[in-house]
Amino acid sequence: MEESCGNRIQRYVFPYIDSNMYILAENKEALVIDPHISAEADRYLRENQVEKVTILLTHEHFDHISGIPWFRKHYDTKVICQQEALNPRTQKHFGRPLVVSLILSDRGEHEKIKELEAEYPSKHPITAEQTYQEAMDLAWQGHFLHMEHLPGHSPASSLIMLDRRHVFTGDSLIPDAEPTLRWPWSEEGLYWEKVVPRLLQIPEECIIYPGHRNITEMRNLKYENNMFVTGDIDKRIEI
Ligand SMILES: [Fe+2]
Repeated sequence: MEESCGNRIQRYVFPYIDSNMYILAENKEALVIDPHISAEADRYLRENQVEKVTILLTHEHFDHISGIPWFRKHYDTKVICQQEALNPRTQKHFGRPLVVSLILSDRGEHEKIKELEAEYPSKHPITAEQTYQEAMDLAWQGHFLHMEHLPGHSPASSLIMLDRRHVFTGDSLIPDAEPTLRWPWSEEGLYWEKVVPRLLQIPEECIIYPGHRNITEMRNLKYENNMFVTGDIDKRIEI
């Protein structure tokens, strides 16, 4: 089971800002990491006769949470996240498309802003059935899940590990991209002091499923000049 689930993890890219949603379906249940609305994902869930969905969040930024109300409407859904994701003070800011709209505005993509704001009118989408403070382990369909609070990029940022091999890093580790520490409530000091040393402990045989960009193995990443790089300089971008 452990060896085979990796190639069944589906990735769906949020069309507005290229964030990744990951889905694994088994026995009419699905594990969804960082949801957004996706017709393609919906088709996959229906093909797999999914009835129950467990959503896990790598963090509380809009591009990683925006699909929660949609999943709740269409599936029997349970959300699990670090408790800071529910903080009303930060949710007021992150629970709406404003920040994504600002990034799109910087890029001059004004049509996309109109589409985004029409598709996501809801302002406070994070609600959760279960939260954790430091860490939480749970079983899902015979798989082992470990969630671990790792604030820096955002207050609720967490690592999510599946079967100790598949590691969902959210925006704490994006290959070939400088870490983004300029959001409101990012903590740069915590990121360099705690997050980077923890990320460097991830075993090289692990597969990294980042919040943006492509899946890679930890063995392909080098930490140099304060970022995790695959060695292909031409691919470096800033998120
Ligand atoms: Fe983020």
